[in-house]
Parts: sequence; structure tokens; C-alpha cells
Amino acid sequence: MKTNIVLIGFMGAGKTEVGRILAINLGFNFLDIDALIEKYEEMSITEIFKKKGEKYFRDLETKILNSIRETIKGVELSGKDKPSVISTGGGMPAFNGNMKLLKNIGTVIYLKADAHTIYERIKSETHRPVLGADGFTLKSVSDKLKEREKFYEKADMIIYTEGLTPQAAAEEIEIFFNFC
Ligand code: S3P
Repeated sequence: MKTNIVLIGFMGAGKTEVGRILAINLGFNFLDIDALIEKYEEMSITEIFKKKGEKYFRDLETKILNSIRETIKGVELSGKDKPSVISTGGGMPAFNGNMKLLKNIGTVIYLKADAHTIYERIKSETHRPVLGADGFTLKSVSDKLKEREKFYEKADMIIYTEGLTPQAAAEEIEIFFNFC
């Protein structure tokens, strides 16, 4: 099965790292939507949130997503390029009906992890604007994860990443693709 792969999941789920490994292993292109947004705006995501607000950021996510979909459709029609692995921002599936767009682009895979694990992975980071400008707690991670889980669970496949290295998570996805 030859299809684009879209990775979704909460912050700290490993979307970028797993995506990068997967793209190398499969020989696919790799697209990181957060990185594309930063390049497009010439600003870090933290700065975009601070200077322009969350709504602006969410609309930008959808705009970039639409343009990826158009590009990918063109590439598929030409049959010339290879498929892509696309890593999304943690909030993307929960806004503007993006989940439908994501499923339109490729097979959507949810990299799932528990709130506690996520908190441990990201607690030393300072650039997490949606969890509160003054820092965050296990409870704020857990509340936000609960709020988003219903969107994430619409994925085509769920990989439980607890105890998996990024390489092992990428291998699970490869197995799914080889045997489907
Ligand atoms: C966000 C997650 C971030 C980034 C932005 C908003 C969120 O991406 O898009 O800070 O709302 O969860 P990562 O999940 O790659 O950290």
C-alpha cells in the first residue's frame, strides 16, 4: 500500500522524531507542519502565539494543511514523486475540522502516550504556549489530553508508544504498512 502517512498526537508524543525515522526507513519525503509554519512566518511558534494569538496560529495551520493537500494531490496525479510522512502539531486535529483534511491526505496514525509520560517528557521545556504561559502541571497536561483524545481517536491506527523508542515506534508503523 503506497500512501502518505500523517502522524498526530499530543505534544511530546514523538511525532517529529518518529516521522523523521519513518521517512528515512521508507524512503518517503518528510514534512513537519510546525517547521513549515515557522518558516512561512519567519517566527518561532512561541512568538506567533505571543504576537498574533492562538486563533491566528490555528488558521495558519489549516491554511498550510490545505496547501499541502493541494500539492500532494498534484504530485499524486503526476505519479512522479514519492509519498510523504507528515508530522503535525499537537493541537491540529482538534481545530477547524482538520481531522477530515488530515484523513484526506493520508493514513492517520495516533502516537498515544499517557499524561504522566507526556508530562515527564516535556516538563523541563518552556515553549508550550497552549499549556499556560506561566508553566504547566501534570493536571493541565492531563486535562488538555482528555479534551483532545476524542479527536485523536478518529485516527486510522493507534500506536501506544509507552516504553517504545522512536525507532521501535517507527518499526511498528512499517509492519502495519507492509502487512496491510
Ligand atoms: C501545540 C503543539 C505544538 C505546536 C504549538 C501548539 C498544541 O506542536 O503546534 O505549540 O496545541 O498542542 P508539537 O505537538 O509538535 O509540540
